[in-house]
Amino acid sequence: PILADVVAKKGTFHFGSTYDTYEADQAWSTSTFGTFYRHVVSENGCKWDATEPTQGVSDLGECLATQSFATENGNTFRGHNTFWHSQTPSWLPGSFSASELVDTIIPQHVQQEIQGMGASVTSWDVVNEVVGDGVSNGMTALQCVQNKGDWPTVTADGSGQPLVTDLSFIYAAFNTAYEYAGSSTRLAVNDYNTGGQDAKTSCVISLIQNIQENTNIPYDRLAIGFQSHLTASTGGFYTKQALASTFSTLAALGVSAMITEMDIEVASDSTAYLRYQAAIWGDYLDACLYASNCFEFINWDPRDDLSWRGAAAAATLFDTNGNPKPAAYEVAARL
Ligand code: XIL
Repeated sequence: PILADVVAKKGTFHFGSTYDTYEADQAWSTSTFGTFYRHVVSENGCKWDATEPTQGVSDLGECLATQSFATENGNTFRGHNTFWHSQTPSWLPGSFSASELVDTIIPQHVQQEIQGMGASVTSWDVVNEVVGDGVSNGMTALQCVQNKGDWPTVTADGSGQPLVTDLSFIYAAFNTAYEYAGSSTRLAVNDYNTGGQDAKTSCVISLIQNIQENTNIPYDRLAIGFQSHLTASTGGFYTKQALASTFSTLAALGVSAMITEMDIEVASDSTAYLRYQAAIWGDYLDACLYASNCFEFINWDPRDDLSWRGAAAAATLFDTNGNPKPAAYEVAARL
């Protein structure tokens, strides 16, 4: 009932989780994505190593198969991701020059993938995890990205000289994405440990502004994805109020917010922890549902035995038998 009101007010709202065709228990997936989750993200099938294993040769097989699964179950589909320093094909980073990377390799990959997946994709993580963890307030967008200390802002040839010294690789990815994506597909910067009032969140906001200024992509096509891989026992999560404040900062710019990869590790699956987990899940979902500019909410892995955080982390909505946990009821009450 809450979801219906939200859709009436905002036009769309996508609630979903990850799926890959090689996951166990297909019958469970079909039934759960047919009734509970209504939106699909491929967990690994649209990453660069899967989609361009040989340079210049596009292979969207698994990415398209997950999209077909979504369509067959009446679900929508979002894309993750076109650029990430991790899960790259074996030919990357290689020994390419900065200009080969920025002028050819990135645009070619982004075009192949975004054009190949079609205009119905709700949003793309155009760049994933490009901001560092050791950032401080007041850093420029370039400093935020250099702080990451990963390819391609670090040395590629052992010379000690960084491969790229500006953000043109990010502009190249966004310019290409904008050219080939559907006219309402949102284009996102996606990162973890973001959402509240802190230096890393300031960095992703600076970065999206910097991208807009350097590409002229309209703000209403840009988004920030807040991954939200949380840890309950160590306080590794934001309050509803902190999220709401960040989302409204973005709304003032015209930029969308999305919760893209939510899971919550708990110290044990005691009743107390499962209730704690449910409360945090409800806060995050409410922050997104009630924000004018948050249209997507995605859980990373649909059940504990499939979770990248390990089954013992009990980090998802469904237990290892596929049965709903307290957090699933918490979420369902809003759908
Ligand atoms: C993870 C997948 O869940 C794993 O199966 C894979 O082995 C590694 O990547 N941030 C991201 C996701 O953006 O792509 C990651 O997914 C989890 C962290």
